[in-house]
Amino acid sequence: MKIVVGISGGSGSIYAISLLKALQELNIETHLVVSTMGEYVTEHECGVSLDELKDMATHFHDNNNFAAPIASGSFKVDGMVVVPCSMKTLAAVANGFSNSLLSRACDVAIKERRKLILVTRETPLSPIHLENMLKLSKIGVTIFPPAPGFYNHPETIEDVVVNMTGRMLDMLEVDNKLTDRWKGI
Ligand SMILES: Cc1cc2nc3c(=O)[nH]c(=O)nc-3n(C[C@H](O)[C@H](O)[C@H](O)COP(=O)(O)O)c2cc1C
Repeated sequence: MKIVVGISGGSGSIYAISLLKALQELNIETHLVVSTMGEYVTEHECGVSLDELKDMATHFHDNNNFAAPIASGSFKVDGMVVVPCSMKTLAAVANGFSNSLLSRACDVAIKERRKLILVTRETPLSPIHLENMLKLSKIGVTIFPPAPGFYNHPETIEDVVVNMTGRMLDMLEVDNKLTDRWKGI
């Protein structure tokens, strides 16, 4: 499998790190693109540098490089995740405004009818955010706010992050044992 991972400047880059590591462990080829604010927030929240992020991916593409393979629909991939997805990147994707490689790769995923998962992060949500999400959801994009369930009694932040990562892999149809699945009562 080949998965594109985009990191934008929303809070929660801990999820991106967790997803990249999980995909690496599963030997899945990843194509990473990081916005300027994605880089900043990752360093700020997790103390992880861009170089360290690059080591977690198979391929890295500069966000200004519109000649990267992932900018073209002819380059076949199995899906894309933007994690975290800021409201700015959400707005760009919802309006086909491909002014970065990250938003262009999302545009490609939509036009090629491929899986696109946006791990949207903001609270509270304005009507503009909600309209952008609804517009994308209606055309098959998965809007995936990382809102954890508490029915499996997570005890640490890592429990929450790993569980959410497993659900992101579920959305990509990647078999995984990360999610603590509800077995009924
Ligand atoms: C520490 C920090 C946390 C942020 N968290 C969010 C957030 O959760 N959601 C959001 O939409 N924007 C957030 N922002 C603002 C975005 O980074 C900003 O709108 C930026 O322009 C997004 O650009 P990008 O989508 O190209 O990365 C945050 C900024 C900082 C500095």
